[in-house]
Amino acid sequence: MDDKTNPTRVDQPRAPLNRRAFLSAGVGSAAAPLFARGLHAETAERVRPAQDPRDRANLTLDVNGRPHRVALDVRTSLLDALREHLGLTGAKKGCDHGQCGACTVMIEGRRVLACLTLAVAAEGRPVTTIEGLAGPNGALHPMQQAFIDHDAFQCGYCTPGQIMSAVACVREGHARTDADIREYMSGNLCRCAAYPNIVAAIKQARTSIREA
Ligand code: FES
Ligand code: FES
Repeated sequence: MDDKTNPTRVDQPRAPLNRRAFLSAGVGSAAAPLFARGLHAETAERVRPAQDPRDRANLTLDVNGRPHRVALDVRTSLLDALREHLGLTGAKKGCDHGQCGACTVMIEGRRVLACLTLAVAAEGRPVTTIEGLAGPNGALHPMQQAFIDHDAFQCGYCTPGQIMSAVACVREGHARTDADIREYMSGNLCRCAAYPNIVAAIKQARTSIREA
């Protein structure tokens, strides 16, 4: 029987696709775990207040050759300590999960991801950020100059991390071939895909940087 003549068929007026209703339903279900987590956090907070003095630490951070005294929550990452407490915003927060390399700095000359390093772990150990890479008279570090010479960036967001990582990569002796450079710089992502130019910049700068 043709649908049109079928008496049992009840034509429901088809609601137009309501984007707002659809999104509300989606957000509602997606938010449930967040609410649950919020409740959990609230309970935990009641057990131990966020401002518990036991969570505070007085530190001296040695950054770019200067000592900085800071009072921090012991859970503060080195990245947040640099950016939020010392005003050194060169190291960037990309993912905050150790996946992009935008936050790369050096501790005792070795590259680290500042978002995964606790500030307390850096106490008493020299930290170098992109702000401390240029010479005392402001002369650019050879790697900084090479990035400019080779247009090794577009938006520039990943660039401080790329440069810090590149300097360490050369000092580690991991920049002798293109393949090595690509491998040992693979933790530094560039959404603008400036990779060929970054490799070219590192090859230019490696001649003026001593391997450790
Ligand atoms: Fe640290 Fe992405 S912000 S790795
Ligand atoms: Fe834009 Fe690398 S230059 S993310």
